Amino acid sequence: MLATTNFHAKETAFAFDTAFVTEIVLLTVLALVIIGLIILYIYDRRQKEHTILRNYPLIGHFRYIFEYLGEFFQQYFAQDRAELPFNRAQRAWVYRSAKNVDNTVSFGSTRDLHPVGTVLFVDAPFPVLNRDAVAISPVTIGPYCRTPYIAKTLFNISAMSYGALSKNAVLALSHGAKLAGCWLNTGEGGVAPYHLAGDCDLVAQIGTAKYGYLNKKGEFSDERLQEVASYPQIKMFEIKLSQGAKPGKGGILPAVKVTPEIAAIRNIPVHQDSISPNRHDEISNSSELLDFIARVRTITGKPTGFKIVLGSYEWLDDLFTEIHKRGIEHAPDFITLDGAEGGTGAAPMSLIDYMGLPIAESLPVLIDYLVEYGLRDRIKVIAAGKLITPAEVGWALCVGADFVVSARGFAFALGCIQALRCHTNTCPTGITTHKPNLMQGLVPELKSVRVANYAKNIEYEVGVISHSCGVREPRQLNRTHARVMTENGLSVSLATLYPNKKTGAKIPVDKN
Ligand SMILES: Cc1cc2nc3c(=O)[nH]c(=O)nc-3n(C[C@H](O)[C@H](O)[C@H](O)COP(=O)(O)O)c2cc1C
Ligand code: SF4
Repeated sequence: MLATTNFHAKETAFAFDTAFVTEIVLLTVLALVIIGLIILYIYDRRQKEHTILRNYPLIGHFRYIFEYLGEFFQQYFAQDRAELPFNRAQRAWVYRSAKNVDNTVSFGSTRDLHPVGTVLFVDAPFPVLNRDAVAISPVTIGPYCRTPYIAKTLFNISAMSYGALSKNAVLALSHGAKLAGCWLNTGEGGVAPYHLAGDCDLVAQIGTAKYGYLNKKGEFSDERLQEVASYPQIKMFEIKLSQGAKPGKGGILPAVKVTPEIAAIRNIPVHQDSISPNRHDEISNSSELLDFIARVRTITGKPTGFKIVLGSYEWLDDLFTEIHKRGIEHAPDFITLDGAEGGTGAAPMSLIDYMGLPIAESLPVLIDYLVEYGLRDRIKVIAAGKLITPAEVGWALCVGADFVVSARGFAFALGCIQALRCHTNTCPTGITTHKPNLMQGLVPELKSVRVANYAKNIEYEVGVISHSCGVREPRQLNRTHARVMTENGLSVSLATLYPNKKTGAKIPVDKN
């Protein structure tokens, strides 16, 4: 009896001990997990490399896990090239090149080579050896100005205003542009101290609201223009007629993003929607456009051009005829041509989706008009519109562009995850928000290096395409070097597809 009682007592004690030990182990594991998570939380908050982890410690890791696993599971859930506006393949190229990570892939292309419009480059039987390759040649813009601009790079940063972008994003772009040696366009919000901070080359944009160029009475002021032009960093002026995402509509900065500082720079009321008119008061026809260009160029002494998205071409006859009447020194020094697929910080959907022509259609036509009017050398062409990978940039050069600019390519380099919330002031990556807790995630010193890596890697790989096409540098690419897939399943050379409009000549546009 006693023995049985002892046995039960021992059994109970043993069970108690086991439960106790299990409990202790579990509590220790739990405590360790909690301590681990706290350490990870602190680490995430403090590290500077990944914006998402700084802004969303712990849960931000899921983004990287999903991104990594996406590669393996994409055949079940998403297609590599299905997301919009930019697909995974395009974004991955930018992310990797911005981090200077090898962009080599294997097994074969996931790109469907058959849809109509697919671009294919024409490889040369005897490509250019590395030892024979040469650097991209510089281009002089505005030869008749007091201070022409010698542009050394072909890929540059397109207009995005301080207002649409955060202070940290502008700082990263400015320092990144300096590192890469490319230019940064200020966008239509005026020149902010953050644009100047990196000491890079700047293109100062004059939007329809003339933010940054107004006097105290709110009028466009020649004195103010002169003041802005006196910054040595400002190399050119761009008069914005329209942008691809919203032709016929001026810039929009939602009230939530109009902080006191931005209001002061723009000379507008705080926390009220900042809406630009849909055209310049002074410019209602080609002649007035040339007058305004002359005014800006005379006052500033710097190359002056305009930005537009084309809807129709006929007015180009009018503009180019007027230029010849006045003399070619009166021509704009450059035209920035934006495609209908261009991006924006905020725009009505009907304009984003339906207005204007895509760059694939408008760029060849603009180049041919310039050739036809003998203005091809005088007016430099800067192309934009989802041209964010080397192949897209290479295509634009083949067609005849002198330069390519990108806005969203550089947003990806800054860490944009395509959350499409730019207009809400809640950008999770700190790029298009003025909320300090979100903006702090974007560390300009680190992201500027990514901006520079991206710009340099684009130019490097466009070089690789050029050498494969048999030319020594990207500026030697012409229309014989690319083909486009047609409806019958066969490709046709760009030189055949876009012969010179009036002469019908199938002569490639040679920019050398
Ligand atoms: C956030 C954001 C802000 C922009 N702000 C301007 C602007 O101020 N002025 C302008 O002319 N274009 C602006 N754009 C248009 C771009 O400069 C560019 O023309 C267009 O997005 C096409 O380039 P992408 O396809 O490489 O983005 C903006 C685009 C984005 C994404
Ligand atoms: S992460 Fe989203 S909200 Fe931020 S810039 Fe990119 S698309 Fe805009």
